[in-house]
Amino acid sequence: MMKTLLLTENAEDIASAAELIKNGNVVGIPTETVYGLGADACNENAVKAVFAAKGRPADNPLIVHIADFSQAEKYTSYVPALAYRLAERFCPGALTMVLPKNESIPLITSGGLDTVGIRVPSHRAMHRIIELSGCPIAAPSANISGLPSPTCAGHVMRDMNGKISAVVDGGVSEYGVESTVISFDSENSVRILRPGAVTPEMLSEICRDVIIDPAILNELAEDASAPSPGMKYKHYSPKANIIMVEGNYNNFIKYIRENEKDNVWLLVFDNDSTEFPYRYMTYGADSSQQAHLLFHRLRELDEAGAEKVYVRAPSKDGVGLAVYNRLIRAAGFEVIKV
Ligand code: TXA
Ligand code: MG
Repeated sequence: MMKTLLLTENAEDIASAAELIKNGNVVGIPTETVYGLGADACNENAVKAVFAAKGRPADNPLIVHIADFSQAEKYTSYVPALAYRLAERFCPGALTMVLPKNESIPLITSGGLDTVGIRVPSHRAMHRIIELSGCPIAAPSANISGLPSPTCAGHVMRDMNGKISAVVDGGVSEYGVESTVISFDSENSVRILRPGAVTPEMLSEICRDVIIDPAILNELAEDASAPSPGMKYKHYSPKANIIMVEGNYNNFIKYIRENEKDNVWLLVFDNDSTEFPYRYMTYGADSSQQAHLLFHRLRELDEAGAEKVYVRAPSKDGVGLAVYNRLIRAAGFEVIKV
C-alpha cells in the first residue's frame, strides 16, 4: 500500500502531478470524458503499474494522450490525411484515432498490437499535465477493470486509494462517457469501435463513410476476432444485475409490475412518473444528461446495495448510442422489448 495524495487543480499541484508522471509514477487524472490512470506511455515499468493497479488484461491496449495532434507523428508510422481533417475539428476533444504505431510506443502500452490509439484531451488541467510532463501519457479509465468508469475524483479514490501515487481533482467529468474510438477503413471512411461524445452524425460531416462496428450493439461471437480488444471484455458492469427494457414508459412499468415484486430497483428518466412501489433513481431527460449521469448512477446503485435493476433503455441517437452501448454491455447484451 502506498499513500495516495489528493491534488487540486492549482498550478503547484498540477506541476507535482506532471513531475510524478515524468518520474515513472501512476496518477489519476481528470479529462472531459472520464478520469484516467496516467503514466508515461514510453516507460514500460510505469505502464506495467497501470495494468496492475486496474487488474487489466495485458492484451487490452491503452490510449496515448498528447497535447497537440501534430505530435501524433512522433508516435505513429503513418497519419492519413483524413486524420488531420478530423483533428482540425475534434482535437482537442473526445476522439481517439487508432493509427499504426512506431517503435517509440512499447508493445506493453499497445497490448501487443501494432497500432496505437491517440487522443488530445481538452480538459485544461490534463492538457497542462501532458505539457509539463513532457511525455505522451498512456491512460485507461481509472476504474478497477470491469467496474464503471470514474467521473469524479472520489470514484478514482474509491477504486485506487493505496495503489497509485496521486489523484488530481479536476471536477466532475464534462461528458461522463469515454471517448469515441475510431479506426480508418480507407481514405474516406472510418469505423467506430466504441461510440462516445463525438457522434456518428458529427463524424459524417467530415468523413464520407462512417461505419458503426456491429460489435457495438451485438455480442461478439466466441470465435470472432475483435477489431478492438475492449469489445471482448464485460465492461461498465456494476455488481447489480442490470436488465434493459426498451419501450415507452407505460409498457416499461406494466412489464415490471407483471413480472416483479417490489424488491427491485428502477433506473428511469427524469420526467417519468414515479408512482410505483419500487425504489428508483433517475438518469436525466436527454442523451447528454444520461451520458453525464450513467456511471455515477451505476456506482450509486451498488452503494445502495441494489441487486436487480431495471433500466429504461435510452435513445440510440447522437451521444445516446454511447449510453446504449455501455448499458447493453452492463446488461450482458440482453434487451427486453416491450
Ligand atoms: O475517454 C477515454 O477514452 C478515457 C480517457 C481517460 O481518455 N480512456 C479510456 O481508456 O476509456 P480505456 O483503456 O478504458 O478504453 C480504451 C478502449 C479499450 O476498449 C481499448 O480496447 C480500445 O480503446 N483501444 C485502445 N487502443 C486501441 C487500439 N490500438 N486498437 C483498437 N482498440 C484500442
Ligand atoms: Mg475503460
